[in-house]
Amino acid sequence: MIKDPIKEISPGIFKIIHNTEELLVTLNLVPGRRVYNEQLFEMQGKEFRSWNPTRSKLAAAIIRGLKEIPIIPGNKILYLGVASGTTCSHISDVIGEKGYIWGVDFSARPIRDLIDNVSRYRKNIIPIFNDARLPSNYSMMVPLVDIVYVDVAQPDQAEIAIKNCNMFLKKRGYLMLAIKSRSIDVSKEPDEIYSSQIDILKKTNLEILEVIKLDPYEIDHAFILARKL
Ligand SMILES: C[S@@+](CC[C@H](N)C(=O)[O-])C[C@H]1O[C@@H](n2cnc3c(N)ncnc32)[C@H](O)[C@@H]1O
Repeated sequence: MIKDPIKEISPGIFKIIHNTEELLVTLNLVPGRRVYNEQLFEMQGKEFRSWNPTRSKLAAAIIRGLKEIPIIPGNKILYLGVASGTTCSHISDVIGEKGYIWGVDFSARPIRDLIDNVSRYRKNIIPIFNDARLPSNYSMMVPLVDIVYVDVAQPDQAEIAIKNCNMFLKKRGYLMLAIKSRSIDVSKEPDEIYSSQIDILKKTNLEILEVIKLDPYEIDHAFILARKL
């Protein structure tokens, strides 16, 4: 019996078998267009984009066993540290035409690349050139959201996440936080850093649901899923 080569592991997120290898993919919202030279696959009349776990911490977290993937079609998402849109483009595939991502970054170059190569073609991404430490600067543009996604690689990233969750995350909404231990303190063990970040989040109205280490895809990184009480 031939096994179905496309398995939907969460709404809008799939695993396919390609040359005996299992790959994570999303359904391309803009058929024919690549974002970061990822592979495209035509299967069952649809086009899928490979989602590379060495380029995207969210893909690494899913492959490393994230149990609850809260991103679903139609979601509204605030993305802090969107950069040039690698991970954001896959989230854009998942949330589809009815969802929106407000993508914040304070570096001019990646935001320009996001606009030129990604958000121009993906109408569900709204780029915001601003500092995530100052959420009141963009509060006029961003509504209450289902998910706050944070990948800013800054020593105060937990505080940045909390500030933005307080302002924009709806009750029972999710925080997804990527932690790069070396950007917080190179002298400490990664596990010590992850615990200290978790302790900061726990002191607020956020409940920690899952903590996933991203090695070997991203060395000394972890991914936290939390929920607003
Ligand atoms: C690790 S990269 C993000 C990669 C991206 N999330 C992805 O997976 O495709 C971190 C980004 O956060 C941005 N960043 C760092 N601190 C920031 C801040 N305070 N406000 C806005 N952006 C920030 C940097 O400019 C950089 O583009």
